[in-house]
Amino acid sequence: MIKVGIIGLGAIGQRLIKGFQGHAETEIAAVCDTMEERANEMAAELGGIPAFTNHKEMLETAKLDLVYVAVPPKFHHAVASDVIQKGIHILCEKPLANSVEEAESLLKQAQDAGIVHAMNFPLNYSAGSRSFAKLITENYVGKLRRVQLKMHFPEWPRPWQQNAWVASKDQGGYVLEVGVHFIQQVQKIFGRVTVKNVQLQFPEDPQASEIGILAMLELADGTPVWIDGMSQIAGKEEIAFTAYGSEGTLSLLNWGQLQGGKLGEEILPLQADDFLTDSLIDHLVKAVKGDEAIIIDFAAGYDAQVVLERLRKG
Ligand SMILES: NC(=O)c1ccc[n+]([C@@H]2O[C@H](COP(=O)([O-])OP(=O)(O)OC[C@H]3O[C@@H](n4cnc5c(N)ncnc54)[C@H](O)[C@@H]3O)[C@@H](O)[C@H]2O)c1
Repeated sequence: MIKVGIIGLGAIGQRLIKGFQGHAETEIAAVCDTMEERANEMAAELGGIPAFTNHKEMLETAKLDLVYVAVPPKFHHAVASDVIQKGIHILCEKPLANSVEEAESLLKQAQDAGIVHAMNFPLNYSAGSRSFAKLITENYVGKLRRVQLKMHFPEWPRPWQQNAWVASKDQGGYVLEVGVHFIQQVQKIFGRVTVKNVQLQFPEDPQASEIGILAMLELADGTPVWIDGMSQIAGKEEIAFTAYGSEGTLSLLNWGQLQGGKLGEEILPLQADDFLTDSLIDHLVKAVKGDEAIIIDFAAGYDAQVVLERLRKG
């Protein structure tokens, strides 16, 4: 049994708890949150396991094989460094850190420690996004002409993720929260990408995150990657990741729906290949056992952070 410790029991930390609980080879052995009541409640729900409000104490006391870090981005570096220094395998939430320097430090520490270092980028395990990547590899769009990411939110932060940090300029905003998933996908599917030009719009509150971004990036062969983000607008949330090519157009809509069409045809919904659905936790278990696994590691987290920070700085 792989003994898992969880640091950060917010909206996201709680999501993966179910996955670890439901897996035959993992067991949640300790939980930690600076909010004592939250830590205690979760520990009780998990059958009376130890609860901590200080992660260092948890790392000293509990015997753990893997720690999942799901605290807000500003604390990733401090908390993840302590986990790595203990030589414990780590799963870190995205983005890897809150600056390129912090991300570089975590990557180096993790590589030196020789542990499994994984990131939670769920698009790498879901059927829609994996089908998108497969169709691109199979040349569905032909020669790539443009990649486009549209992120439109009637309201940011979204109703289900209301917290102080996600609306803040220093560690929030949708470029960081949502954009980084697609930066990682662009790098994985299409290769290296560099930022050419960024225009950001901010509200009057100097502490608040962006309400608009227009950014032009470029793949190694010069193909443009266009980012169009807006919040506080009319209409529905819309996240569209689209590849335009010489033979067709393919989109991943709202994280999971595929649609596409060939030149001269209508754009229609496409069926994702459900056989491509995979499980991060299955792969973590394999990696911890030393088996081959699909892991998006800190090196990928670092590469995404380099682009992310350039976009956030404008
Ligand atoms: N992978 C994904 O799809 C995805 C989606 C949304 C958010 N996230 C990431 O997950 C992380 C957490 O996001 P969230 O929405 O759950 O935030 P949240 O604010 O809801 O929860 C964070 C929790 O961490 C606790 N915390 C803060 N500092 C701590 C510390 N030093 N030690 C222990 N606990 C501490 C807080 O009390 C809170 O309970 C962020 O990095 C975010 O970017 C990932």
